[in-house]
Amino acid sequence: MKAAVYRENGGPEVLSYEEVADPVPGADEVLIRVEAISIEGGDLLNRQRIPLPHSPYIVGYSTAGTVIAVGKHVTDLRVGQRVSAFGETGSHAELRVVRPDHCWVLPDGIDAAAAACVPVAFGTAYEALFEQAAVTTGSTVLVQGVAGGVGFAAVQLAAKAGARVIGTGSSRRQLDALRRLGLHDGIDYTTEDVRRRVLDLTDGVGVDLVVDPVGGPMTQELILATREGGTIAFLGFSAGQPLIDPLTLVMGDRTMKGFMLSKIFHTPRVRAYLADIFRRVAKGDLDVLIDRTFPLADASDAHRYAEQRGRLGRVVMTP
Ligand SMILES: NC(=O)c1ccc[n+]([C@@H]2O[C@H](COP(=O)([O-])OP(=O)(O)OC[C@H]3O[C@@H](n4cnc5c(N)ncnc54)[C@H](OP(=O)(O)O)[C@@H]3O)[C@@H](O)[C@H]2O)c1
Repeated sequence: MKAAVYRENGGPEVLSYEEVADPVPGADEVLIRVEAISIEGGDLLNRQRIPLPHSPYIVGYSTAGTVIAVGKHVTDLRVGQRVSAFGETGSHAELRVVRPDHCWVLPDGIDAAAAACVPVAFGTAYEALFEQAAVTTGSTVLVQGVAGGVGFAAVQLAAKAGARVIGTGSSRRQLDALRRLGLHDGIDYTTEDVRRRVLDLTDGVGVDLVVDPVGGPMTQELILATREGGTIAFLGFSAGQPLIDPLTLVMGDRTMKGFMLSKIFHTPRVRAYLADIFRRVAKGDLDVLIDRTFPLADASDAHRYAEQRGRLGRVVMTP
């Protein structure tokens, strides 16, 4: 098969489109012919800085495609079914092997590109909003980076649950697009004082929950924009490790939470809420934002594009 591989960490230029051996499913696994690959924020971080477990390495979490072989112990998937599939590695390829409990059979009405983008973005957002916190009508939620994958999912899920959603982005284009999907108040974090704006918008109280998949220096500002007793769901660090002052948690009776969705994807509760999210995407209740699509052969260009600031949603590749 063809795959985009790399042999060392680095910039997008380390990706090379090559012929490699086809993966072979074990007894408890399935083989997928990949139709679409979502470039996740985590794929970029992996390529940049996470040591390779072996070389050459095929990075990547999230895909959609068709099941073309099943291991002898697999009972709940059949050849020919179209699925969205998550794995710790191996999305940037024509074929990949995954666990059945990391696959969701696609309902009618959802195409492969959208389906590839659903599990990580919507699963992370849902877990933060409704499992780690209890967002409901009347809650106030602040989403950092509304145009990123986790961001656009969190805005929609929170707004549909009746919350007031405040969000940050790096351009008016992003904030305007997300307003159509439920964002109530948009803050441009390249030009505005985020903490001051949030406090102004909440009569000085702060928000109930922060959803922060971005990290960096802004995280401390977001802690200070959280109400007393509120929660900060810290999910990732696209902008780097945050430097936080723990005293601002203590003094504000605030709780900071984290989780790794990849460790709980297989659990019945996560599988169930993701199956429901797939149905909602298929019927148009939730939108998947795709900024641009590239051929897998141009994986370097696709990663370079995905690393640019100001994107509106996911970058997708097709083998
Ligand atoms: N804990 C978990 O289980 C879990 C699950 C999923 C993702 N994550 C993590 O969450 C993070 C976001 O994932 P994602 O897939 O949503 O990523 P993404 O689609 O690439 O979005 C990243 C967001 O970060 C913003 N950003 C701000 N400063 C940035 C900077 N200096 N460099 C790059 N981006 C910057 C971008 O907005 P602008 O371009 O507008 O600035 C964009 O909205 C990643 O670190 C990922 O590993 C964690």
